[in-house]
Amino acid sequence: MTAEKIKEIVSQMTLEEKASMCSGADFWHTEAVERLGIPASMVSDGPHGLRKQDQEGDHLGVNDSIRAVCFPAGCGTAASFNRELIQQMGETLGEECQAEGVSVILGPAVNIKRSPLCGRNFEYYSEDPLVASEMAGALIHGVQSKNVGTSIKHFLGNNQETRRMTSDSRIGERSLHEIYLAAFEGAVKKEKPWTVMCSYNKINGTYAAENHKYLTEVLRDEWGFEGYVMSDWGAVNSRVKDLQAGLDLEMPSSNGFNDKLIVGAVQSGELPEKVLDAAVGRILNIVFRYEENRDKNAVFDRDKDHEMARKVAQETIVLLKNEGVLPLSEQDEIAFIGKYAKTPRYQGGGSSHINSHKVTSALDAVEGMSNVTYAQGFDDKEDKTDEKLLAEAVEAAKKAKVAVIFAGLPDAFESEGFDRAHMRMPDCQNELISSVAAVQPNTVVVLHNGSPVEMPWVNEVKGIVEAYLGGQAVGGAVCDILFGRVNPSAKLPESFPLKLEDNPSYLFYIGERDKVEYREGIFVGYRYYDKKKMDVLFPFGHGLSYTTFGYSNLTTDKDHMKDTDVMTVSVDVTNTGHMAGKEIVQLYVADKESTVIRPVRELKGFEKVELAPGETKTVTFNLDKRAFAYYSVKLQDWHVETGAFDIMIGRSSRDLVLTKEVTVESTVKIPFVYTTDTTMGDVLRDPRAREIVAGLLKLDIFGGEQGKAESDVANEAISEGMSEAMAGFTPLRGAVSFGGGMNMADIQEIVDQLNALEDI
Ligand code: BGC
Repeated sequence: MTAEKIKEIVSQMTLEEKASMCSGADFWHTEAVERLGIPASMVSDGPHGLRKQDQEGDHLGVNDSIRAVCFPAGCGTAASFNRELIQQMGETLGEECQAEGVSVILGPAVNIKRSPLCGRNFEYYSEDPLVASEMAGALIHGVQSKNVGTSIKHFLGNNQETRRMTSDSRIGERSLHEIYLAAFEGAVKKEKPWTVMCSYNKINGTYAAENHKYLTEVLRDEWGFEGYVMSDWGAVNSRVKDLQAGLDLEMPSSNGFNDKLIVGAVQSGELPEKVLDAAVGRILNIVFRYEENRDKNAVFDRDKDHEMARKVAQETIVLLKNEGVLPLSEQDEIAFIGKYAKTPRYQGGGSSHINSHKVTSALDAVEGMSNVTYAQGFDDKEDKTDEKLLAEAVEAAKKAKVAVIFAGLPDAFESEGFDRAHMRMPDCQNELISSVAAVQPNTVVVLHNGSPVEMPWVNEVKGIVEAYLGGQAVGGAVCDILFGRVNPSAKLPESFPLKLEDNPSYLFYIGERDKVEYREGIFVGYRYYDKKKMDVLFPFGHGLSYTTFGYSNLTTDKDHMKDTDVMTVSVDVTNTGHMAGKEIVQLYVADKESTVIRPVRELKGFEKVELAPGETKTVTFNLDKRAFAYYSVKLQDWHVETGAFDIMIGRSSRDLVLTKEVTVESTVKIPFVYTTDTTMGDVLRDPRAREIVAGLLKLDIFGGEQGKAESDVANEAISEGMSEAMAGFTPLRGAVSFGGGMNMADIQEIVDQLNALEDI
């Protein structure tokens, strides 16, 4: 529908009708205005399946929803690093929505994994904003190609579940731009989600729902977002203020209460009617975009989509460790041990909970293979070792050639609505793994969890497979990997620290009551572990394959560029092993020298390539200013410091195989203002300033060019280097206290002369 037509409809609406459009008719529908042909529009949860509730609505996954297909959760889909695949998953979800009359699926969820404890990490993508934003973009692209909208969420700073409706995320401006906003930015700019969902929490003192800065200035004015912003369910607390800030649709319904506030505010002149008209226009635009593109032929083919879920799951499973034990032979005597072999944990709790139409377990997937035995090993209702189950498992392991333990986190350990209390697996499962490994040298652990766990048994087992929360087809996909029918190709989109205390947010997570300070700043995940040179259990970007890959020929189309240019980087990747496989090529950029505190290196590109044995492919990346920049709070913009950068290609963040140095020149100067506090070291960086401060340079406190020799001899404890260094840090005003006869007015005169220099 054209913008004019929408305007015309809005102009025909009464004030009351317009106000009512701005909140849900019920839990999942927008209002209809029949006399004007405005239909109600349904939204439903995702993001990794369709959670459409026909009956009573709730937003915590308590009540039932229609039978649907559960795809791997965000933790896994991010690990695929495969944009095309996640786009296909999006297309499937879009088709399902078309078939079910759902106009917007509520996802993807891109909040940064600040701490392994966040109860909702399983739904989120990564600790790295590029990965989060790119993978979200792929899903959005797929869904929206079917003329169904998405709602990228939860905007902004919602990185924990504890007190999520009232907590105040206090995040520095630079970290917001480099980490937390960046997770949304790329996807919003490139893929134009139809809607954005704002989060419950406050950001630096202002609720996300009433945050004009982020909902309007950043989202709309800077990023060009044109859709509507909806609230998270119940995130509105000041309706009129929210509308003015840029929050269009309140969800769910406030039973008319807030509509009345809007009407009153317009009538009293507190709220300009054009603000309301704009919000209604944005909502109608999406309502009609969906309505006019309904696909009457769409079908929700659950069995077909189950196969798609399996295909996605195959690429979300990360092979963390393999000391020659995998792949398994289909002929060997194998003991499948652990409850999750029979009833896998494949999704998390809360609003993303899918009512799966069927679930394939690993045991289902080996049905008919008489060489595979099963022992339950543990129960996950409570963390208590069941001696009988343990003994049976050890017995089964002893008899077999290989033991595969299906372990992980029980439902009660991670869910929307609360955070994890620790990073450990249940003790009873750890005990089981150690007991089995003690009798069976060929032990493999398959993990079902949405967030990192500590692995006290890491050195006791030969293989570790991270299946994440792999969706309803996870059992088939895990067996495809175990038996080598599919070559593992996923990598970790997050670091696995050795222990929780190593995590950079540890000291401040989950805050003091509602005050949550993000004191680690930009040093989230590998940005911290690398800077601190800390050992981790498994690094960001890590993941093994049954084949090997070689890298060569790292080239750039230029060695030097201005920050307004784009640099093309290419590298050859060869499958040097004997099995076809896929490799995720990672490109990191390191600023070699900077006056700004920066991470050692940051991921600035990734590509997944499929290679037959012996095959070589060239992978290319385009790097623009953003790849080299940090966010300058002073400039309120991204900035590159002129200088050398390393471009590094890696198999993971800790396995960097090729490096090339390039230089980037800034076209933007950060203006420098001299004051009486400016140090002599900073002054002398500009050769033109030397003449102006020549008089001061003669003074002892600034290195005393004349008296230097004598004073150095006189005080052997202070070497020439030391006195120069000290002088460098002395402010110009030091000449008043120690300079003999100068006063502040003299210093100010020098400062004025310095500031009069051109182009400083
Ligand atoms: C969640 C959202 C979800 C909404 C609707 C909220 O509690 O935070 O992610 O989309 O409920 O179920």
